[in-house]
Amino acid sequence: MRSLNFILCALLLPASAFSFLAPPSRFGRPVSRLFESPVEVIENPGTLTLLGAGPGDPNLLTLKALSLLSDPSTLVVSDRLVSQPILDLVAGNLLIANKNPGCADLAQNEIYNWCMASLSLGKNVIRLKIGDPFIFGRGGEEVLYFRERGIDPVVVPGISASLAAPLLGGIPLTHRGVSNQIVICTGYGREGTSPDLIRYHPEQTVVFLMAIGRLRSLSQRLMEMAGYPGDTEVGIVEKAGCEDQRTLRGNLNNIADLAEEYEIVPPSTIVVGGVCAVLESGMLEKKDGLKGLDGTVVDLAESKSVEILKGEVERLKEELAEKEARLEEMK
Ligand SMILES: C[S@@+](CC[C@H](N)C(=O)[O-])C[C@H]1O[C@@H](n2cnc3c(N)ncnc32)[C@H](O)[C@@H]1O
Repeated sequence: MRSLNFILCALLLPASAFSFLAPPSRFGRPVSRLFESPVEVIENPGTLTLLGAGPGDPNLLTLKALSLLSDPSTLVVSDRLVSQPILDLVAGNLLIANKNPGCADLAQNEIYNWCMASLSLGKNVIRLKIGDPFIFGRGGEEVLYFRERGIDPVVVPGISASLAAPLLGGIPLTHRGVSNQIVICTGYGREGTSPDLIRYHPEQTVVFLMAIGRLRSLSQRLMEMAGYPGDTEVGIVEKAGCEDQRTLRGNLNNIADLAEEYEIVPPSTIVVGGVCAVLESGMLEKKDGLKGLDGTVVDLAESKSVEILKGEVERLKEELAEKEARLEEMK
């Protein structure tokens, strides 16, 4: 499937998009022998803004983002995962990146081509990116790319899913006595490799982005190679801030099975550490769920752990009834 995607992407893109296939120069930049194309510096370009869209709920956009998206004179080049309600706010022209798994690099070139074409006509372009542009969003790379071509982008922060998704899923990332540090990691390294794992620390929260497709191997590697106990709590917040948000809880031993059973899909943020259980103990009593940032009710009834706890309560009730019955018999 990955190779099919690659072929499809390859057919859609111009020859210049393949320059990354060339060997790197000693300065670390690709030097294409097949498609030599010198970097072109644009005279009198339009402006470019890298804009953070937050996790998906338009209410979590910054005022700056709202005003930029409402400008009808701009071209907005958006990441594929930006939610529809946010795209609906775009007043100018809109192009959406085709970043399917397996062709992210090719699609990135397509994005560059779209932006450069409009910038060279003096148009103002907004690169709309999910979350915050500088957190696993290739924001730094894009700044360097455009600077090299004579355009210095303005960067506008957005609320990163790495911070917002846990909160919206009822998980405080730090909590006194439970976690005093947060590490934000990607599940995918460069060219699909697995990034180095951080070793287990009992008072630490680890947030994984772009990792849901590797949940099983990630959990396995954390336990086998990084010293994590199998009962370390894990929370997954799927489509945080969107209408169909779900929160799934488990531990390193069972989370991959639960995620498969509940068909958890991207975009999802994975949280590993004791904080996932901090607000959970009251969940059976708090039947109407925890309040999210904007007062919406986060549906904790979707959570597998609630079901496990409910099952456990039922089992204990039955055990108690049996013991009472036996006690009655013995009287
Ligand atoms: C390429 S990274 C970009 C992260 C983004 N720059 C940020 O700061 O949120 C995409 C990953 O962010 C996470 N993500 C983005 N939006 C999300 C959402 N609404 N709910 C849960 N996770 C989300 C997922 O892990 C997804 O794979």
